Amino acid sequence: MAIAQLTRMLGVERKYNRLRTYLTTSEEFLREEILEFHFFQFNSGNAKYFLQNDQPLDVQIAELPHYQVAESVRSGDSMAIEKAKREYLKYLEFSWPSHGIETSPSNLEEKYDRFVDLVQKTEAAGKLNATVILTKIPGLQGYFVVDGNHRCSIAAALGLPVNAKVLGFPDVFDQYMRVDEFYGTNNKNLPYQSIYIDKAIVRHGRREDIYDRLATLPPELLGGKTVLDVGCNIGMNAIGAYKSGARKVVGLEVSGRIVNFATRFAMFDQCYPNVEFRQFNVDSDQLNGAEQFDIGFMLSVHHHLKNPERLAHIAKNNVTQAVVFEGHPDTNLDDYANFLNTVAFSRIEKVADLATSVFKSELSRPLWVFYK
Ligand SMILES: C[S@@+](CC[C@H](N)C(=O)[O-])C[C@H]1O[C@@H](n2cnc3c(N)ncnc32)[C@H](O)[C@@H]1O
Repeated sequence: MAIAQLTRMLGVERKYNRLRTYLTTSEEFLREEILEFHFFQFNSGNAKYFLQNDQPLDVQIAELPHYQVAESVRSGDSMAIEKAKREYLKYLEFSWPSHGIETSPSNLEEKYDRFVDLVQKTEAAGKLNATVILTKIPGLQGYFVVDGNHRCSIAAALGLPVNAKVLGFPDVFDQYMRVDEFYGTNNKNLPYQSIYIDKAIVRHGRREDIYDRLATLPPELLGGKTVLDVGCNIGMNAIGAYKSGARKVVGLEVSGRIVNFATRFAMFDQCYPNVEFRQFNVDSDQLNGAEQFDIGFMLSVHHHLKNPERLAHIAKNNVTQAVVFEGHPDTNLDDYANFLNTVAFSRIEKVADLATSVFKSELSRPLWVFYK
C-alpha cells in the first residue's frame, strides 16, 4: 500500500505531509492518484494558455493537453486524436517562447510525434521505466509534478503506476529552479526575495522582509489601487501588494527566466492574472502612455539602470498618485536628485530604514513614499 494511503487511513496525513516537505522519499502512485497531481511548470506563456482556455489556476494532470493526447492515442479514436493534438500544439506554442524556443510547424510536429511514440512504446512494454519528480508545496494541497508531465499523463491514460521521487520544495528550488542571473540565484545560491506562498516563507532568500516592508506603507496606500512594480524580481512585492488590497498589479522585470518564476508564484498563490509580469528592460523598452497606474513600486532598482532617467520617465508619465521608492544602502535623497527633479513630487515621506539583506542587518536602506 502506498504511504499516502496509509497516512490517510491513520489520519496523520497532514503531519506526514508537513514533514515530507523537507524529506526525499520514493513512492509508487496509481492511476487515480496520478490524475490528481498538480501542474508545476507554469511560465509566462503557458499561464496565458490556461487563462484563455478558462482553466483554473490549479491545473491537474487530468486537465492537461498532455493527458488528452495520451488518452486519445490509447483510445484510437481519430476525432479525439485530432482534437487533442490541436490543443497540445497550441499549448506548446504558448509555452515554448517563454523559454526562448521558437516554434515552427516542423518542430511542433516532431515533439508531438515523439510523445505519441512514447505512449505507444510504453503501452507495448506495459510499464514506465523512468522516475518522475514530485514535490509538496507548504500551504498547498497535493503533489506537484516538477519533472514528468508527459510520463504521468501516459501512466494515467494507460492505467500504469509511476515511480516518483518526492523532494521537499527547498530542494526542488535548488535543483530545478536555478536562475543564472545575479538577481536570480547567482549570489550565494539564494533567490533575492524569499519565496512566500500565502504570506509564509517556503524558501528563504536574501530579502526576508517583503511583508515587513509592505507593512511600513501607509495603510490606505494600496487598497483598491493599481500598482506597477518596476524591477519586480520574482514577484513577491507584486503578489504582496495584491494581498494587501491592491486591485491589479503589473510587474516589469528584465530577466525572462525571473518573469517565468514570478508568474509561477502568482499561479500558486492564486492571484494571476490580477498580478501579472512582463519581461521589460527599463533601459530600452517603452511603456505606452495609456498605461496608467495609481502607485509605482521602484524598489532598489535605480542603481541598476544604465539610463535611470527612464525610471523617472515612467514615474512621471505612467504613475498618477505615488511612488514607493527604496534607495540603495547608505543613500539619501540627494543621490536621487535628478529623479526627484524630473518628476516634481508634491510631498516626500520617509517610511523606514531597512536592512540591506539577511547578511547585513544595519538599517541603512531608505524607503520613501513620493506623492505626486
Ligand atoms: C535589487 S533587485 C530588487 C528587486 C525588487 N524590486 C525588490 O526590492 O525586492 C533589482 C531587480 O531589478 C531588476 N533589473 C535590473 N535592471 C533592470 C532593467 N534594466 N529593467 C528591468 N529590471 C531590471 C533585476 O533583475 C532585479 O530583479
